[in-house]
Amino acid sequence: MQKAFVAGWPISHSLSPLLHGYWLKKYGIEGSYEPVAVEPGHLREFLSGLPGHFAGGNITIPHKEDALTICDKVEPAAKMIGAVNTVWLEANRLVGDNTDAYGFAANLDHLAPRWREGNRAIVVGAGGASRAVIHAIMEAGYADICILNRTLARAEALTGYFSGRSDTGLSASRLDEAPGLLSSTDLLVNTTSLGMKGNPPLEIELADAKPGLIVTDIVYSPLETPLLKRAGAAGLATVDGLGMLLHQAVPGFQKWFGIRPQVDENLRQHVLAKVADKGRTG
Ligand code: ATR
Repeated sequence: MQKAFVAGWPISHSLSPLLHGYWLKKYGIEGSYEPVAVEPGHLREFLSGLPGHFAGGNITIPHKEDALTICDKVEPAAKMIGAVNTVWLEANRLVGDNTDAYGFAANLDHLAPRWREGNRAIVVGAGGASRAVIHAIMEAGYADICILNRTLARAEALTGYFSGRSDTGLSASRLDEAPGLLSSTDLLVNTTSLGMKGNPPLEIELADAKPGLIVTDIVYSPLETPLLKRAGAAGLATVDGLGMLLHQAVPGFQKWFGIRPQVDENLRQHVLAKVADKGRTG
């Protein structure tokens, strides 16, 4: 029997057991996926005990950066993003990857495939989730990405972090610069917690947006954030954030259980029914 885990602190809010549990049942796999509470500073100890017990698992807050230094081998996406969210064993060596960029891109591929034809993107936010989104957009071959953030210094630090790592041009601006940029932007992404239940909305004036603009959010609760609602009302294409959560889980499940699982409407409804008040991938 293959076993997988999600390790974090606290861990009770994770939706991953629900997701992987659905797939284990759907594909008739005799396996398990269990939450494990791992206290800060104890990840190395936990991961050293995997052989013979677990095929691998997910790593979540606050361990994603620590995992980068603990894995024996780190895949390129995780190196680029600076965090590991998925690990597995290969001949007793621990390999780490980051599947958030994959999940972000796969969600758009599914719901707005023309996103790959775009050239200019705006990414709002400069935290860990933003790095995964920027990596995905760079990989899609965009010419320019502008990072907008309340704290300009953090956006600038991120442009410094990514500079020279791809052909994509990066710039940093304050949040209030968005309207002037939107007439030539193909993709707008919110990676902040603005718009999540209980938080203020992300206020960006969309009146002058390019008609083909695609607006997406990594917040998935509510599913239709105020930003997506306004974008939809303005006739723009919108993609909600739940698909990123579902798709980012696919590569891990395949590594641990040997089957590439499908993201479909049934899974979406299954997870949606259990989504708590707040939610955001990354
Ligand atoms: P994560 O690593 O999960 O992405 P984070 O590092 O806490 O989370 O980053 C959260 C992002 O949301 C940041 O870009 C933050 O902006 P600052 O860098 O200025 O803090 C943004 N954010 C959170 N609350 C915000 C608010 N009320 N207004 C504007 N931006 C906000």
